[in-house]
Amino acid sequence: MSAPERVRVAVNGTFYERPAEPRLLLSDFIRHDLGLTGTHVGCEHGVCGACTVLLDGEPVRSCLLFAVQADGREITTVEGLAPASETLHPLQAAFRECHGLQCGFCTPGILMTMTALLRDQLDPDESTVREALSGHLCRCTGYQHIVQAVRLAAERMAAR
Ligand code: FES
Ligand code: FES
Repeated sequence: MSAPERVRVAVNGTFYERPAEPRLLLSDFIRHDLGLTGTHVGCEHGVCGACTVLLDGEPVRSCLLFAVQADGREITTVEGLAPASETLHPLQAAFRECHGLQCGFCTPGILMTMTALLRDQLDPDESTVREALSGHLCRCTGYQHIVQAVRLAAERMAAR
């Protein structure tokens, strides 16, 4: 068995250093080693998008990366979205208002992808939102309310 490596990462602005076997998935590292269970794991082979986090600001499927590949980099998970404990991120607030979630399993991954989308595009139209959503599987909502939530958040963020 290979010796554990040391993985040093900044997650949601907090620095962590942990040993990690080279084969340890980033998704398992985040959930089990760091205790950040807001990142969900569905398919574990890059299809469902539930495990999406931001790595140096870009959405990635954490089940397709090893923890050691994140060494020295910055990660944002869904726990890092809200600006304060009593304040939701505009996307989170819009998802709540528009019923953009039901069971919520897919939601953390979708929120991370949409966070990057709204950072890069002030006012994405519906087809752009749907294209960004196409990497995420949701078994509950039929997607329409998710699209509405993202559009509402975009409007509010653009008006700031
Ligand atoms: S758990 Fe990573 S894409 Fe499904
Ligand atoms: S809200 Fe249940 S899978 Fe999307």
